[in-house]
Amino acid sequence: MLDKINQLVEEIKGLAAQSAEEAEQLRIKYLSKKGLVSQLFDEFKTIPNEQKREVGKVLNVLKTQALDKINELKDGFAASANSEVGTDLTLPGTSSELGSRHPLSIVKNEIVEIFARLGFNVAEGPEIEDDYHVFTALNFPPEHPARDMQDTFFIATNPDVLLRTHTSSVQVRVMEKTQPPIRAIFPGRVFRNEAISARAHCIFHQVEGLYIDENVSFADLKQTLLYFAKEMFGPETKIRLRPSYFPFTEPSAEMDISCSLCGGKGCNVCKYTGWVEILGCGMVDPEVLKASNIDSEKYTGFAFGMGIERITMLKYQIKDIRLFFENDKRFLDQFKSAQI
Ligand code: PHE
Repeated sequence: MLDKINQLVEEIKGLAAQSAEEAEQLRIKYLSKKGLVSQLFDEFKTIPNEQKREVGKVLNVLKTQALDKINELKDGFAASANSEVGTDLTLPGTSSELGSRHPLSIVKNEIVEIFARLGFNVAEGPEIEDDYHVFTALNFPPEHPARDMQDTFFIATNPDVLLRTHTSSVQVRVMEKTQPPIRAIFPGRVFRNEAISARAHCIFHQVEGLYIDENVSFADLKQTLLYFAKEMFGPETKIRLRPSYFPFTEPSAEMDISCSLCGGKGCNVCKYTGWVEILGCGMVDPEVLKASNIDSEKYTGFAFGMGIERITMLKYQIKDIRLFFENDKRFLDQFKSAQI
């Protein structure tokens, strides 16, 4: 039986076919149920047990060789069949899909561009901060509720290492290093220990603005913010300043814009008031200038801070803040045409 097998091995090595049909004939001759190789497997069952080990090995080698050879012959014809047809140059190409910027990046870039036109440059500060830069230097009294564990994420057990709760800490970092005139904005991430809902998240983004020079007045602040609102939400936009309180500005205000959706007539975005709040602002408190070694007799300044999520939600009518952090492609794909 071994002789027969070896003979077939040699035979198969030399096989050739002129066409796909011939290759198929060969497959039938050797590998079909009644083919030569299969016949040997039948014969194998009849040989004495002590020979089975040796013969079985060679028989299996024969089978794989036959399979490989016939597949090789068939593949050859399949490939040449394709090349006969040639490449169809009229087929549409495979396009590589363009990514899109995240809506928050689009709006941040737009804010940066608008303020760049007014001469503001960009600075950044660390997200992991200390109590001094987030609170103390900004005139927060020691017992102020914003220092409470409820708002601030502390790192490990050290109460002096924390995640910044606002970008106002960058005001301090910049004032420490630079003497006026200072005219800059600071975009970045901030962190607050808040329950996540459609309107609030524990991580969000702010853009802070700071302008310090001789004779900077509240009128300058108002004019700067009006320019920003019109550039961002359209030339019809009106602004309204309401008195407010921040430890680091005096006087302080919150700014509303006329609702960009209903144009001030009243809708559910502005809760039928015609106005939506978009930022906090005020004149830099002289105590804050002093803490950073800036002459508060000579210089005055204004500061403002706005949430990028809030502005983006208003601009693109997004109803749920959590969408920004879910990376759902169906959401993100909608901003492909809005890149800057
Ligand atoms: N830091 C304030 C906030 O997070 C916003 C603000 C910035 C207010 C600058 C006044 C001046 O709410």
